[in-house]
Amino acid sequence: MPSPSPKRDVVSILDLANDLERLFPRIRELKDQRHQRVPHRRFEGRALAMIFEKPSTRTRSSFELAMTDLGGHAVYLSPKEMQLGRGETIADTARVLSRYYDAIMYRAFRHEDMLALAKWSSIPVINGLDDVEHPCQVVADLFTLWERWGGRFKGRQLTYIGDANNVLNSLMLGAAMVGLNFVAATPPAYKPKPWVVKRAESFALAKGSTVRTVTSPEDGATGADALYTDVWVSMGDEAEEKQRLAAFKGFQLNAALLARAKPDAFAMHDLPAHRGLEITDEVMDGNKQVIWDQAENRLHAQKAILELVLS
Ligand code: CP
Ligand code: NVA
Repeated sequence: MPSPSPKRDVVSILDLANDLERLFPRIRELKDQRHQRVPHRRFEGRALAMIFEKPSTRTRSSFELAMTDLGGHAVYLSPKEMQLGRGETIADTARVLSRYYDAIMYRAFRHEDMLALAKWSSIPVINGLDDVEHPCQVVADLFTLWERWGGRFKGRQLTYIGDANNVLNSLMLGAAMVGLNFVAATPPAYKPKPWVVKRAESFALAKGSTVRTVTSPEDGATGADALYTDVWVSMGDEAEEKQRLAAFKGFQLNAALLARAKPDAFAMHDLPAHRGLEITDEVMDGNKQVIWDQAENRLHAQKAILELVLS
């Protein structure tokens, strides 16, 4: 669900519908500048609050470093150590943080809380993952494909294998927005939400591309240009671990599945990975993958997103 507020929030990939494609050349510039150690301190004195209800390696590091490189400052806030954890409301927290900071990045359990924070903040709110979406991850992922495929998405097929979770939701919508042919291969009990498929189909229609959902990983992988997977048990789903591990058997991204894709196809994963479950060591450590590029590109993509909301 996109942000209901008029300021520049990124609570959903849908909030980037008009900006996604023009972000890619800018991310490339920011990446080149960092590799060449060319400073880009355009947000001197600006500050980002980062609220993390769940653990993070990539999102925390990339947002904090992005703010530092841009000349600003990021502050890590954990609800356990905030008054939020003792019952102060999201609305009151939002009003207070809006008096100190220029933007808030929030990793939440519940999308409703993300929307509430966006509603009550007078500064932009960026979704750093919740139970419905992970838009910043998908900006970095699509940029990774844009780089690999020389800026051309037309005619390419991206297949996601696994759980219809937050990453799949943002990925299906984002892929359709840029005109990729998208396939989601999930077990029947873990199918993509109808509203996500419907929304993605309408983007695909406008772009002349396709969106398909299948329940066979082999079908999904056949002829794909890239295969993407994510964990079978997301943060917050731990109570369902046993039934999930049983349901996702056969949905592993391994060398046999990759062999069904195009000869130059590669594997993708947003990380952290559970090696031996949704993906094998062989695929992760082989050279038919762009997983470490995806992780690096979080840093460069975060900067472009910060530029969008802070400018
Ligand atoms: N991919 C991702 O968001 O990683 P973290 O949970 O480490 O931030
Ligand atoms: N779907 C995973 C993504 C982790 C970055 C989760 O929500 O735990």
